[in-house]
Amino acid sequence: MRILTIETSCDESAISLTESDSSDFDGTQFSKISVLGDTIYSQAALHAEFGGVYPNLAKREHSKNLVPALEFVLSQAQELQRVATPEIEKERLDLIKEILNREQELFARLLMFFAQYSTPQIDAIATVSGPGLAPALWVGVNFARALSVAWDKPVIKINHMEGHIHSSLFPDDLKIEPGADLRLKKIQYPALALLLSGGHTELVEIQEPLRYRKLGQTLDDAVGEAYDKVARLLGLSYPGGPEISRLSDEFEQSGTEKNEKISLPRPKLHDDDLDFSFSGLKTAVLRLVQDLGGAESLSEDIKMQIAYEFEMAVQDVILKKLQRAFEEGNYKTLLFGGGVSANRRLRDELKEFAKQEGTEFLLPPMALTGDNSLMSALVAHNKAQILKEKAFVKQENLQAESSWELD
Ligand code: KG4
Ligand code: ZN
Repeated sequence: MRILTIETSCDESAISLTESDSSDFDGTQFSKISVLGDTIYSQAALHAEFGGVYPNLAKREHSKNLVPALEFVLSQAQELQRVATPEIEKERLDLIKEILNREQELFARLLMFFAQYSTPQIDAIATVSGPGLAPALWVGVNFARALSVAWDKPVIKINHMEGHIHSSLFPDDLKIEPGADLRLKKIQYPALALLLSGGHTELVEIQEPLRYRKLGQTLDDAVGEAYDKVARLLGLSYPGGPEISRLSDEFEQSGTEKNEKISLPRPKLHDDDLDFSFSGLKTAVLRLVQDLGGAESLSEDIKMQIAYEFEMAVQDVILKKLQRAFEEGNYKTLLFGGGVSANRRLRDELKEFAKQEGTEFLLPPMALTGDNSLMSALVAHNKAQILKEKAFVKQENLQAESSWELD
């Protein structure tokens, strides 16, 4: 099966065309998929100016990026074929116009596309319909609906967090190039997924394929959000994760002793549950920075120490909660996903933790830690294989679901 997958939940416009062969389905999941085309248009640099993702800017950029991204991916897959006369009749174009009446730029670009190119050889369109930023999600959802009408293909809706869970199944030495066959890692059930991103912090139990149960989550800020906010307090740029992480590594490598005044709380460390809270940690950094005379007066050395202490606080809480989860459940696989899974320290610590627990640890290749469409493409192939026709939704029933919960 060939699936075109669209991702616009936040500030990346991503599209991929992937192919699966049912003989590679092992009863629970695909052991291999092929990438025919793939691209990510990142808006991170644009949003950096605002110190975070600005929803209406994200919407506008998705509207601008999606058609060029589609053309690129189809051309990689050798599916961008010119036509002498347009294939899409007026009735369908009228319906597409209606679907895209709030995305004028996208509609104009799509009209040009349909006038030039034929219907590609694909079987379905998958789109991430939630969770995420509503204005951003709507663009991808309406784009998928428009393509579904134009090409008469069914749609599969994908949960963004389910995508992040599956990012850890891609090979560690991943090379994304047209025609690449990707051998996938396998989940042993029951499994536990730790999802840390800009909008989510969750522990999710997976008893069997496509069945998820949330065991715990943040009561306020997500880990990625805390990283971004603390970075701002220290005068660092967006996204904050890589910046904090770099400073913290530098401090560790310097071998100097930490000033004992630079100490932060470990929120909910001793609470008897699997929930998290990070807004207090952020506030503690704010107080610390104020006590030290404000961000402008902080030396590079002090910033490094704060970054390190912040990372240690986050790490302590996460490891403790994981330990608690493993006391209650006998998980055979631990999966790590979400933008924060790029964090070197957490990757190392979780690997060590899993070793001690005697559980298999799967983590995404660095190229798939952030938002991308390949992770959701894999979910789409598995869903189509397991659920058959039930995997498909009618395009008219598709909508953005900005708070779509996994379970
Ligand atoms: O999954 P993602 O790309 O987007 C959402 O769905 O939210 O996650 C983005 C988050 C940002 O908050 C960013 O600061 C964080 O992931 N992040 C990191 C690192 N790289 C990105 N956090 C900690 N360490 C990193 N190396
Ligand atoms: Zn994400």
